[in-house]
Amino acid sequence: MENKRKVLVTGGMGYIGSHTVVELINKGYEVSILDNLSNSRLEVVDSIEKITGTRPLFANIDLNNKTAVNEFLHIHPIDAIIHFAAYKSVNESVNKPLEYYRNNLVSLLNLLELCQQYNVNNFVFSSSCSVYGEPDRLPIDEFAEVKKAESPYANTKKIGEDILVDLSKTNDVMKVISLRYFNPVGGHPSALIGEYPLGAPQNLFPVITQTAIGKRPSMKVFGNDYNTPDGSCVRDYIHVMDIAAAHVVAIERMLEGKSKATYELFNLGTGKGLTVLEVIYAFEKISGVKLNYEIVGRRAGDVEKIYADTTYANNELGWRALRTLEDMVTSSWAWEQVLQKEAVSKS
Ligand code: WQD
Repeated sequence: MENKRKVLVTGGMGYIGSHTVVELINKGYEVSILDNLSNSRLEVVDSIEKITGTRPLFANIDLNNKTAVNEFLHIHPIDAIIHFAAYKSVNESVNKPLEYYRNNLVSLLNLLELCQQYNVNNFVFSSSCSVYGEPDRLPIDEFAEVKKAESPYANTKKIGEDILVDLSKTNDVMKVISLRYFNPVGGHPSALIGEYPLGAPQNLFPVITQTAIGKRPSMKVFGNDYNTPDGSCVRDYIHVMDIAAAHVVAIERMLEGKSKATYELFNLGTGKGLTVLEVIYAFEKISGVKLNYEIVGRRAGDVEKIYADTTYANNELGWRALRTLEDMVTSSWAWEQVLQKEAVSKS
């Protein structure tokens, strides 16, 4: 039995993390997960096993508990880390800045210090297009100026990138790749895993599917007075399976010694911008369900429009988004219906 490359996925029970774990296992990696289940649920590991036929090792550990992480790494040697574990709600971060700075930064620092101790020299960081703020030019590429963060959440991603840049300058052994996600949506085609919003979701796709299924009576469109084709905001929605695939490509790039620098950064988007209303119309057309929505005022912190320049990720990383808007809508809708059936069976 050839010895499999071992990848630790922090936050691997979460939305993007769980889809990435599935892709890693499918590509033959031995995966372990550290997650404190603060924004996910234990059943996810059963679903991963159902999809892949392999049960990843899961340890319920909070990365703020450095002793626990140290004990884990002492027992389980690993070749690479993909670090998802972080709080990620933009508006929650505005109300709870200290919690966000402490959790997102202390956990990163703990992990990086232990990487040094255990010679883990391949690190993928989950970053976000929110570090760009309101772009001056579109599509936006990785070399664009990074603006003042619009929220403490976005700032923790920006500071996280800065920490990694500075760390990667101290030695030429550790390789880091930061991946800036645009708007991840959709779910696995099996509908066994998907976005599992604890509490009322803020993001557009789960709000749409919860409105369509009747979990909420209606939804709001935050503003139609922007300088966009129909006045509503433009975003680059990308299927979570494409995001997951990019993480496997990034891990392979580092493990196969293809990194061109100790710190690399790539946008993960489709390069196509869609307005909120275009997404709503597409959902109605594909699902056949009429959405009850009202246009209201703008939401604080929203940028007007952003979508990715994907040239560098396509050419240098050798990855491109393959799924369509139809795949995003269909899989989101299928997942919402699974959640609904679960809720009914539990009631
Ligand atoms: C999209 C558009 C809303 C809900 C967030 C994070 C970002 C990144 C991607 C992690 C906006 C509009 C939404 C609703 C609406 N996450 N909307 N009614 O804010 O672009 O980005 O997810 O990396 O860090 O900030 O995503 O889905 O909340 O909003 O009109 O009920 O949909 O105004 O224009 P956002 P979103």
